[in-house]
Amino acid sequence: MLDIKFEKYIKEHCSPENEILAELNRETNLKALFPRMLSGHVLGKFLEIVGFMVRPNRILEIGTYTGYATICLAKCLAEKGLIHTIELNPELDYISTKYFKKSNVEDKVVKYTGNALEIIQTIDEKFDLVFIDADKENYLNYYQLVFDKMEKGGIILADNALWDGKVLNQTDNSDKETKGIIDFNDFVQQDDRVENVLIPLRDGVMLIRKI
Ligand SMILES: C[S@@+](CC[C@H](N)C(=O)[O-])C[C@H]1O[C@@H](n2cnc3c(N)ncnc32)[C@H](O)[C@@H]1O
Repeated sequence: MLDIKFEKYIKEHCSPENEILAELNRETNLKALFPRMLSGHVLGKFLEIVGFMVRPNRILEIGTYTGYATICLAKCLAEKGLIHTIELNPELDYISTKYFKKSNVEDKVVKYTGNALEIIQTIDEKFDLVFIDADKENYLNYYQLVFDKMEKGGIILADNALWDGKVLNQTDNSDKETKGIIDFNDFVQQDDRVENVLIPLRDGVMLIRKI
């Protein structure tokens, strides 16, 4: 959504992407479908810094893809902390596994392959930080599934909260992804159990704190 010049300026004013993440970014662009799904330098750095502010023991990521955000978030875990990450598509496994090892975070990552809607219900953990970044039509379902697994003060981040601007002008009811994001944003906005701020970072990040 941002002007290319602005994007460049923003990247130049964020701490640089580390070499391993830059390599993962390149390999994803060469080998995976829809490489735009990768969170990338700016969002990755944002997640890492928010993570360092929270210092979580347990993180849940919904939608691993090739593992870029998993690595950014794994870095900020408290000692002995773990990040649980769920990915539907087993074909991406070999890339994420390779880069978890290269980044020395493999012992901190608990990987699941399958449908997050089912897997979340089988994880017996309380999370301090949750990153929702999978299929847009299920964002509200994910929010509801994780909510009781979070302590007060827990943080939920949801990517693509602006959905390429489509949240402003949805006319096509058959567009389930846009409807999913709009329903999620509206639900969070009226939920008096949380405080939230919608940040226009890349494709929009909804930052939520359970109160
Ligand atoms: C936007 S990408 C995730 C990007 C990743 N978090 C990153 O930072 O690079 C979304 C991922 O969610 C996965 N996904 C979609 N539906 C899912 C589901 N029901 N359960 C688990 N993963 C799902 C897709 O296969 C895709 O890899």
